Amino acid sequence: MNKRKLGDIEVSPIGMGCMGLSHGYGDIPDEKYSIKAIQKAYEFGCTFYDTAEAYGPNLLAENMGHNEKIVGEALKEYRQDAVIATKLHLPEEEAKSNGVYETLLSHLKKSMERLQTDYVDLYYLHRVNQKIPLEEVAEGMGKLIEEGLIRGWGLSQVPVRIIENAHEITPLSAVQNIYSMVERGVEAEVIPYCLENNIGLVPFSPIASGFLSGKVKANTDFSHSDDVRKFVPQLKKENIEANRPIIDLLEEYAEKKNSTNAQISLAWMLHKYPNVVPIPGSKNQERILENLGAWNVELSKSEFSALEDALNKIEVHGYRGFNETEGGSMEDWGKKK
Ligand SMILES: NC(=O)c1ccc[n+]([C@@H]2O[C@H](COP(=O)([O-])OP(=O)(O)OC[C@H]3O[C@@H](n4cnc5c(N)ncnc54)[C@H](OP(=O)(O)O)[C@@H]3O)[C@@H](O)[C@H]2O)c1
Repeated sequence: MNKRKLGDIEVSPIGMGCMGLSHGYGDIPDEKYSIKAIQKAYEFGCTFYDTAEAYGPNLLAENMGHNEKIVGEALKEYRQDAVIATKLHLPEEEAKSNGVYETLLSHLKKSMERLQTDYVDLYYLHRVNQKIPLEEVAEGMGKLIEEGLIRGWGLSQVPVRIIENAHEITPLSAVQNIYSMVERGVEAEVIPYCLENNIGLVPFSPIASGFLSGKVKANTDFSHSDDVRKFVPQLKKENIEANRPIIDLLEEYAEKKNSTNAQISLAWMLHKYPNVVPIPGSKNQERILENLGAWNVELSKSEFSALEDALNKIEVHGYRGFNETEGGSMEDWGKKK
């Protein structure tokens, strides 16, 4: 397995998205099971873990930090070898009355406490807040880097214009945008800019919230109050069926390569770009290892070209996109801006 770089931060080529252990995909597992899942991923060779202060059941304020606590407990023995990424939301009131840097610092301190650490490797602004100057956020993040409290910083769900502005002030290590075989918007400008500027691209929902595994069916139940799949555009009942040709294509390659659909979808993006480090998420210990195992699935040049050509010919039904700001709602996913 060849390691990859997010800016100057070295990570395993696939990371573990930890969100589902606390939020977003229905009932959550028992904490002991979740801790073990993270430790098993580490033993398998995963050194990159993604969490956020917001990840807790139903994203309720009182559940804030639920996921960070699990990640911190699981990784405390391996802290030096694990790269931990977390994210904050910047509330307008707080930033205006206390100052942007002070707000960043106060959220970071709480995250560090829950993560049982005195530094965070990668600190993302979860969504740009249009009411707070991004320049001040970039400067504040720069100060946190100088102080040794974070190793690098990043932005999430941002277009290239915002990335450029921020990167000029304090170089970014990573951009975390949605990216998968059915959400390819970042290929046009964001990834080329990141490649040129030594910025890693960390795709979230790289398996399209499970769709690309082929295991989500039109009758799969998303009714749980904390299941984001009811908002995922490609997972509308009619789109699950209309997008079937993509699953057929993945199945063909999975059989050829003795792997799984999810693994092919991850191997495809690893082959395509050297600065891409996907963070698939699962609540299931076996699937977490299956997804990480995609780093062993090598597509030859001709296999990749044929897959890419076939994919380019298939129309995708449903699109969320990657231009989102603070205050947006899941109900807006996929709606034209
Ligand atoms: N920056 C942001 O705004 C943002 C937004 C969303 C997510 N994230 C981060 O990105 C990570 C990954 O995104 P995600 O969890 O939304 O999407 P994902 O990894 O594309 O998909 C997760 C879903 O796919 C299923 N799944 C995963 N691997 C599978 C496999 N091998 N076979 C069958 N089903 C499989 C999971 O089900 P099971 O659990 O049942 O296996 C779960 O329902 C999150 O954990 C989080 O850390 C960030």
